Amino acid sequence: MTGWPTGLASPSWGGDYNPEQWPEHVWKQDVELMRRAGVNLVSVGIFAWARLEVADNRFDFGWLDQVLDLLHDGGIRVCLANATASPPPWLTGANPDLLPVRADGVRLSHGSRQEYCPTSPVYRDRAIALTEKIALRYGEHPALAAWHVNNEYGCHVSRCYCDRCAGVFRDWLRARYDLDGLNRAWGTDFWSQHYSSWDQVLPPRVTPTLPNPGQVLDFARFCSDALLDLFCAERDVLSELTPDVPVTTNFMANWTFKALNYWHWAAEVDFVSNDHYTRADDPERHIELALSADLVRGLSRGEPWLLMEQSTSAVNWQPRNFAKLAGEMRRNSYSHLARGADGTLFFQWRQSRAGAERFHSAMLPHAGEDTKVFREVTQVGEEYGRLAELVGSTVDAQVALVYDFESAWAAEQPAHPVAFDYYATVLGLYKALWQLGVTVDVVPPSADLTGYRLVVVPALYQVTDDEARWLEDYVRAGGHALVTWFSGIADENSRVRLGGYPGAFRDLLGVRVEEFFPLAEGDTAKLTGGLSASYWSELLHANGCEVVSSYVDGPLDGVPAVTRNVFGEGVAWYLATTLDADSAVTVLSDVLAGAGVTPIVSAPPGVEVVRRRGERISWLVAINHTGADVVLPVEGVELISGVDTAGGLPVPAGGVAVVREV
Ligand code: GLA
Ligand code: ZN
Repeated sequence: MTGWPTGLASPSWGGDYNPEQWPEHVWKQDVELMRRAGVNLVSVGIFAWARLEVADNRFDFGWLDQVLDLLHDGGIRVCLANATASPPPWLTGANPDLLPVRADGVRLSHGSRQEYCPTSPVYRDRAIALTEKIALRYGEHPALAAWHVNNEYGCHVSRCYCDRCAGVFRDWLRARYDLDGLNRAWGTDFWSQHYSSWDQVLPPRVTPTLPNPGQVLDFARFCSDALLDLFCAERDVLSELTPDVPVTTNFMANWTFKALNYWHWAAEVDFVSNDHYTRADDPERHIELALSADLVRGLSRGEPWLLMEQSTSAVNWQPRNFAKLAGEMRRNSYSHLARGADGTLFFQWRQSRAGAERFHSAMLPHAGEDTKVFREVTQVGEEYGRLAELVGSTVDAQVALVYDFESAWAAEQPAHPVAFDYYATVLGLYKALWQLGVTVDVVPPSADLTGYRLVVVPALYQVTDDEARWLEDYVRAGGHALVTWFSGIADENSRVRLGGYPGAFRDLLGVRVEEFFPLAEGDTAKLTGGLSASYWSELLHANGCEVVSSYVDGPLDGVPAVTRNVFGEGVAWYLATTLDADSAVTVLSDVLAGAGVTPIVSAPPGVEVVRRRGERISWLVAINHTGADVVLPVEGVELISGVDTAGGLPVPAGGVAVVREV
């Protein structure tokens, strides 16, 4: 990774710019309005393949030359796409074999986007050829800030089940197992699945009933790797031809997506960028946004990152596409900024007139400039111009939260005790930390935990022996850990760890669970200490740990539900149920107090405060998600207003503030 690259004088502000959807006379107006809105970075050409390579090997770059020159003249820099996200109809039409195949054998047709199989040599060759052309033509263009490779890999097609992918999957497996090893890892003696030759091994296509869990897990790993391999091939062309121009691809590390192992991907980009859309029907959507941003900062190993896309207002792909409330987009932008984004861009600059996304909001709406959206865009764009000093700074956190894409793939499989949503489970716990005003770094299993006072481990369903030891070592040496149910259950092949749950963490936690007792939907379990829980419970035996809270009546009357174990020099807590929001806050505040973690400032509930730290100075970003004005005990200069906050920092209802601390 080369870190934040653009050399922009303030945090980036802008969006996807799709001039190919508009006649030429609009482009000039676009640049003018962009300047008015404080735009300094746009992503260009993401879906422009059909307009750049208009027919097999026939190119038309004239219009893009013009657009880039116009942007440059306007002082706007460009994150230029290699334009491979959506192969044109002439290509898929001539090579139907390039189209991806679903698990049920249906080959998808062209007509939307992302219609390619990741292992198609034709798609890859043509994508690389186009990338080369673009790199050679624009590599020296003065507007070029970074390369934007492809777009949201895997967003619509994260898995292809075609015969070619089956073959590449077998090669992938052969690099890891011999046939005996594969049979052992997947437990193929179950249901007569034993393989006697490699050519019998297939992707987990549609089959009469439940598929093999090890096969499903390995296929998920393979599919992430196959797309990553494609990204690397596209990236390599750019890195070779333009070694000084940083390369990224936009991730979707958020509630909508978990099909790619972004810990692996993050190691391959020059800087991390992410797309985030709030879930409009969730009243606490700003907390999910915070988790996503913390995860992205984790992927970026603490370095600043770029929010490549968010929406100014409604999207067009949720069940009800609610408009953002006045001030909401501004708060969203500052939350990302607070959590390490050195720029926040949108999908997209100008709202489309035609096509599938015409009812998706943009920076410049159908209704034009005289709108709530454009005014807010202009306001934040202008404010960002006063925040240049934050660029490049990092974020302070005392707590680490372990996030594992592979545990999601393993734990969300069918035929488990309950339907399981990994991200929602992580978010449930994260919400309590957010309410308590604590900033969290999201880390992968086996991360370096030096300096963290507490590590939170939600539903780390599958772990290797090394990963189990890693957590034990951290606690033994004095760390504090909080582990939740459905952790340590399986090994890396989804084979259950025997002797009682949570297999890998029994010693660390001082517990032994003999049976799961999921609760019925809507049921609540009462716990001692005034706590309540839902969703899950288990028949647990304290095995040396201290019992913090137990069930009151019901089938598990008297059985421990929350425990605390002194292990070596440290402490390991276990949550054997899903605590309700208030109960989670109660228990988490004890856990944090025990670990010596304190909030950044004492702020009323619903007021988010995060500290960014530079070499010599630090800043607090405060976002007031409540309907009441607040005053925070913070001293320094508020950068948006330029006012000295000696008597306390006012943050109006729904407003934001950025303070350079004294
Ligand atoms: C994704 C894509 C964009 C657009 C937005 C709409 O993030 O990358 O091209 O489709 O979704 O929300
Ligand atoms: Zn395929």
